[in-house]
Amino acid sequence: MERYRRYLADRLSPGRLAHSLGVMRVMEELAAVYALELAPARTAGLLHDAARDLSRDQLIELAERAGIPLDGLAHRQPLYLHGPVGAHLVAVELGVPDRLVLESIATHSFHRDGPLFDHPFCWCVRFADLLAPSHPWVGLHKLGAAVRAGRAAEAALLHCRWLRQYLQERGVPLHPVLEHADRRRLEGQELPDDFFERW
Ligand SMILES: [Fe+2]
Ligand SMILES: [Fe+2]
Repeated sequence: MERYRRYLADRLSPGRLAHSLGVMRVMEELAAVYALELAPARTAGLLHDAARDLSRDQLIELAERAGIPLDGLAHRQPLYLHGPVGAHLVAVELGVPDRLVLESIATHSFHRDGPLFDHPFCWCVRFADLLAPSHPWVGLHKLGAAVRAGRAAEAALLHCRWLRQYLQERGVPLHPVLEHADRRRLEGQELPDDFFERW
């Protein structure tokens, strides 16, 4: 783990490194709630943003070299690529072999889905990402309560909806993978009026 931390220290801003350590700690908690293996859970949390501080050009160049499809919004919003590019980097440069760890990193930025997209491990990385924020945000406590109580289906609905709102407020076009994940989660659900109320 120390080797991973040193790798990140060379590539991430101090704030981003602190966030990554925070996500690792939340993953430790969630491993107990969702019966995840502890070591992979910590690894995924720590390394999930390995590519987050690369420039737009670096993300596109690395994606091209790694054979990551540049479909969806990749050219307009290369930030969506930081998941798959990060998974590629930690596999190649750190030798991380665990498929679930790599998939959770690859899919956390919603550039693509895949057979493991809805695996509890992958959702836990997405939850932990929002629960270890750099700044507090309204909704954090409600999401945290649902996640820590094991109510992953409810938490995933909140996660998708609030992430969409966050991106829309910042004028970031929504990736079809995120919209699709949200729609899939909502299908056939009868939600109370105050379901998305924040606290
Ligand atoms: Fe990220
Ligand atoms: Fe993150």
